[in-house]
Amino acid sequence: MRFDILTIFPNFFSGPLDHGILSRAIATGAVEVRTHDLRAFTHDRHRTVDDRPFGGGEGMVLKPEPIFDCIESLGSSGDAIAPKPTRDLARQSVILLSAQGKPFTQSTAHRMATLERVVLICGRYEGVDERVSDLLADAELSIGDYVLSGGELAAAVLLDATVRLLPGVLGHVDSARYESFGAPDEGSTDPTDETTPDGVPRSTHGAGGILDYPHYTRPADFRGTTIPEVLANGDHAAIRRWRRRQALAKTLRNRPDLLTHAPLTEDDREFLDTLITRPRA
Ligand code: 6GU
Repeated sequence: MRFDILTIFPNFFSGPLDHGILSRAIATGAVEVRTHDLRAFTHDRHRTVDDRPFGGGEGMVLKPEPIFDCIESLGSSGDAIAPKPTRDLARQSVILLSAQGKPFTQSTAHRMATLERVVLICGRYEGVDERVSDLLADAELSIGDYVLSGGELAAAVLLDATVRLLPGVLGHVDSARYESFGAPDEGSTDPTDETTPDGVPRSTHGAGGILDYPHYTRPADFRGTTIPEVLANGDHAAIRRWRRRQALAKTLRNRPDLLTHAPLTEDDREFLDTLITRPRA
C-alpha cells in the first residue's frame, strides 16, 4: 500500500514515521509513505500557499493550484492518481483532512486498508478552497469533534490506524481483531464465543463495537492492589465471562452510545440491566 501526504509541514511526519509499528511496516515494505511539500508546487517568489477568503472573514485559505499540481505530479502513467471522474475507488482514494469532514472510524480504517493508494491532503484550520473537496477529493474526513490547527496530526492518526491493519504488520495476526472496536468475527453469530484452538481465552473476540476489557500483568500485587483473583485460577470459562462483563461495564461507563449498535446477547443485556438499576455494584 502507498500513502502520499500533501502538507506545508513535510518534516512533521518524521516523528510518527520513524517509530514503532509504522517504521517497521515501512522497513518491511508493507507500506510506502511519501510526503510532499506543497510549497514546492508554488510559482511565486514568496512560495504562497494561501490567500485571503473571498467574501471576507478571518484567516487564510489554502489555494487550490499547489494541491492540484502536486496530485497531478504523483506517479507516471501506470501509477498516477486518476482524475476524479475516472478514479477506481476500489484501488485509490484522495482524502481531505478537515474538521468539517465525516467521522473517521475503525470501519473507515478497515476500508482504507484494502486500497492500493491513498492520498492525504492536510488542510489548515482556517480552511481549504472548497474546489479541492469538490473536484479532487473522494472524501473529507475528521478525527473528532475538536479543532486542530492543521490536518497533519489527523493524517498521522489515520495512517497509524490503517497501517496496523495491513497483513503481516502486527506481530500477532489476530491482535487487531479482538481489541476495542475490532471487527466482529465473520461467521460467528455469538459475540461471546472466545475459544481459541488451544483453549486459551483471548482478547474481546468478536466483541465488535464495545470497549476492550481491562488487562493486568505482573506483579500480581502492585503496591497493595492485587489483580482480580479470577485471572489467576486458570478457569478459562470464568475468565471469559469476567472479561465480557468488565468490557460491558466499562463501555456503559465510558461510551454508553456504543451499546445501541453493539451485538449483545440476552446474558449481556441482563448483566447491563443489573448495572443500570444498581449502578457500580
Ligand atoms: Cl482532520 N483537521 C483539523 N484541522 N481539525 C480537526 C480534524 C482535522 N479532525 C478533527 N479536528
